[in-house]
Amino acid sequence: MTSFQSGVDRDRVRELKNAEDARFAAAHSKSAALIERARAVMPNGVPMAWQVGSYHHLPMWIAEGRGTRLTDVDGNTYVDFNIADLSMFCGYAPEPLVRAVSEQMARGNQFLLPTEDAIVVSDELGRRWGVPKWQYTSSATHANTEAIRVARVATGREKVLMFEGKYHGHLDEALVELDADGRVVTEERGVPADTVGGTVLVPFNDVSALERALERRDIALVLTEPAITNNIGLLLPDEGFHAALRRLTSETGTLLAYDETHTHVVGAGGLVRQWALEPDLVVTGKSIAGGLPFGAWGMTDEIAEILVQRKGPDGERANLVATGGTIFGNALSMAAARAALLEILTPEAYAHTQRLGARLAGGMRASVEAHGLPWHVPHLGPRAGYTFQPAPIHTGAEGFAAADELLTRLIRVWLANRGVWEAIVGAGPVCGVPCSDADVDAYLEGWDSLLDALTA
Ligand SMILES: Cc1ncc(COP(=O)(O)O)c(C=O)c1O
Repeated sequence: MTSFQSGVDRDRVRELKNAEDARFAAAHSKSAALIERARAVMPNGVPMAWQVGSYHHLPMWIAEGRGTRLTDVDGNTYVDFNIADLSMFCGYAPEPLVRAVSEQMARGNQFLLPTEDAIVVSDELGRRWGVPKWQYTSSATHANTEAIRVARVATGREKVLMFEGKYHGHLDEALVELDADGRVVTEERGVPADTVGGTVLVPFNDVSALERALERRDIALVLTEPAITNNIGLLLPDEGFHAALRRLTSETGTLLAYDETHTHVVGAGGLVRQWALEPDLVVTGKSIAGGLPFGAWGMTDEIAEILVQRKGPDGERANLVATGGTIFGNALSMAAARAALLEILTPEAYAHTQRLGARLAGGMRASVEAHGLPWHVPHLGPRAGYTFQPAPIHTGAEGFAAADELLTRLIRVWLANRGVWEAIVGAGPVCGVPCSDADVDAYLEGWDSLLDALTA
């Protein structure tokens, strides 16, 4: 039977996947032994229980990573094209990061007091993104949490608007989705039921829906990625969408935050700079500090004023906004961010990854066409992707409808068995800074061989 969405035979996909899963298991006996041991001390035998659900096969356990390559405990080596969900865009163990982190560690990693690197990092983030003031957390999730809280204080409103298909981390407000009837519901267990009243979800690229939602003037913040990069592959904005978003948020007194945790990889200042967007707040993290725990949120001077504490007559400080954490903005993460920003995420590095990303997307597209498959291959800077329909998607709902979980999981295990790793299923490959033409060749070879097998 040919699947409606993807144009490939369902039974063939299942048959190939079963064979590839068995081949993967045979090559990972030491990982299998470790997970058995680990089940006694961790739910599902992994540090984060959900990690197991990400794979149909057992997760492999890692011995080390260098450059673009991972080696697992069984001695298998992979070129990593998901680079740990973009947190390792700088590569594994790049020399400037190893040096900066080792030197800082030797001097002390955390003081609950600032180090000068925080000024250098803030200067550099401000130069890149064009917003002048910055604050730090230990993850992008927490940076989004704090951006939302300060937006509530700034506007005197409580609700947040996000777009269907988004992912902004594991904060309650962002763990909601639309059900089949278009109602907002919690996405995972443990999220309080009343969270759904605080988040409004509308389709990306739908200006009328956005206008209707904002005209009630009860939304503090629109939080979005400039291009949606999670859950549904790659969803790009229609011409004029961001201009309409800026106009409508300004007209209704709503703040606008761009989450560039993933999209910063397109170049210095991310898509905000590349597309000349005008945010009130910017959020980033992950590879900005080379994958060390790090989150940052930038803001206008006006918003920063809300955080400025003024002393009362007895030296007391009032009007605190709910932000902060003991190890946020610590010396080690700041040293890592300084080294990553100034020595690794350079104009040359971005140009290199963009060139490889274009090559990768072009090669994947050519192969799709040569095999006569009705798939679309989106491209954004260093990143390519795959959508199992011929046209690009315009909304999250279209993305979910085009998804094919079995096929996506086959792609991953097929590539893994040929030395190419993509941790997040369906995300699409990304070329990190140490990526080479030979790495792109390896991906394209694996991709081409899969399409051969699918269409044989
Ligand atoms: C756009 C975006 N924002 C925020 C996050 C959360 O990042 P973290 O897991 O580092 O908190 C992610 C993670 O994938 C993301 O893709």
